[in-house]
Amino acid sequence: MTKDPTFNSAMAATYEKNSRISVPTYDALFAMVQSYYRLQLGEQAASLLVIGAGTGNELSAWGPSNPTWTFTGVDPSEEMLKIAKYKVVELGFESRVSLIHGTIDDLPQSDSKFDAASCILVLHFINDIQEKLNLLVSIKNKLKSGAPFVLVSAYGDRDNSELQDRMQIWKSFWVEGGRELSETDEMISHALAKLSFLPETQIEGLLAEAGFTKITRFYSTGIMAGWMCHAE
Ligand SMILES: C[S@@+](CC[C@H](N)C(=O)[O-])C[C@H]1O[C@@H](n2cnc3c(N)ncnc32)[C@H](O)[C@@H]1O
Repeated sequence: MTKDPTFNSAMAATYEKNSRISVPTYDALFAMVQSYYRLQLGEQAASLLVIGAGTGNELSAWGPSNPTWTFTGVDPSEEMLKIAKYKVVELGFESRVSLIHGTIDDLPQSDSKFDAASCILVLHFINDIQEKLNLLVSIKNKLKSGAPFVLVSAYGDRDNSELQDRMQIWKSFWVEGGRELSETDEMISHALAKLSFLPETQIEGLLAEAGFTKITRFYSTGIMAGWMCHAE
């Protein structure tokens, strides 16, 4: 299991606020994904795999209002998962949630496959392209044929002015969120140094190579974009 030093206890504590500054449409994203899953999954019981469950925002967005869904959340950060556990207990649906400290490789072996999966704001923390592909292949292998999968990640070509322009827009979110303009450039270059960007076509190529079809970009805010697709 990879211990992720990025999400230590200080980061976990500030995550709720900073995620919504960095991605002003953060809560709308979860609502959009929920709509699509509901349409696809219908009313019957469904099992969802949440890769990078973090502080439990997928769980708290989708759990209470979908009582037939069960969740398996995976994350290598113990500090983030502690907050996720707290939220799930507060919301009273812990009997439908299993939290696993680790990566997808730490999921218990099982013959049953998931009905849907998500990997939101995780892929850009994996630097190596082969490792990104391995994660997507592992997710696909855990899904039933036809199951929906949502991927949200930073995207773009670092050498292209299009990404530089979007970074300026991202900077404006932080200034609007209360950061001093003088601190923002350093904070942003520090954050960007930790992120691994791939151009959109390459992300879509990795999804296809991993065995996903009907790859559709449905979302974009600042430096992030989201794709909906289905396991073959
Ligand atoms: C920015 S947070 C996103 C959390 C949540 N998905 C959300 O949107 O709020 C990124 C999370 O991915 C986790 N992470 C990093 N590498 C991972 C991996 N290989 N597998 C699963 N989770 C990972 C981190 O520990 C962190 O909790």
